[in-house]
Amino acid sequence: MLSEKMTDTLNNQLNKEIYSAYLYMSMSAYSSYSGLKGFANWFMVQYQEEMAHAMKIYDYIDSQGQQVKLMAIDQPPTEFESSLDMFEKTLKHEQFVTKSINDLVDLAISEKDHATNIFLQWFVTEQIEEEGNDNEILSRLKLAGEDGNGLLMIDKELLARVFTPPQNL
Ligand code: FEO
Repeated sequence: MLSEKMTDTLNNQLNKEIYSAYLYMSMSAYSSYSGLKGFANWFMVQYQEEMAHAMKIYDYIDSQGQQVKLMAIDQPPTEFESSLDMFEKTLKHEQFVTKSINDLVDLAISEKDHATNIFLQWFVTEQIEEEGNDNEILSRLKLAGEDGNGLLMIDKELLARVFTPPQNL
């Protein structure tokens, strides 16, 4: 059973996950337009991951007998300075999402809502992985610097990423 406050906060998180998907889809479009198909692939897989996160929250709210309420999605940026700029923005955004998940866990604990706390632990772990991936790619982009060959090598590696649907809890 979800409190009204918890339902509202989960609905807000659902909106943030869909915005994340929208943001990464925009980065994918920009990458593809710039000729970096590997980056385009990586961000499109990220888009799919974010939609899966959104659906996990959707299903949870629904399964608890509450109403999913969809809100307007903000327009994401469409122009970026470089691949480095996109990953800096990606990491910053994921840090924002991590804080949001942590706030949700705090709320679940304060309400003694053990079920939602357990549900949210999957997201806590997922955020460690997401920030880790972003940090790793960011480091390599910084190493490559202005070297076009280095960038193309990273682009080739990012082409290999495939979407794996998250496992159920
Ligand atoms: Fe669903 Fe990237 O956080």
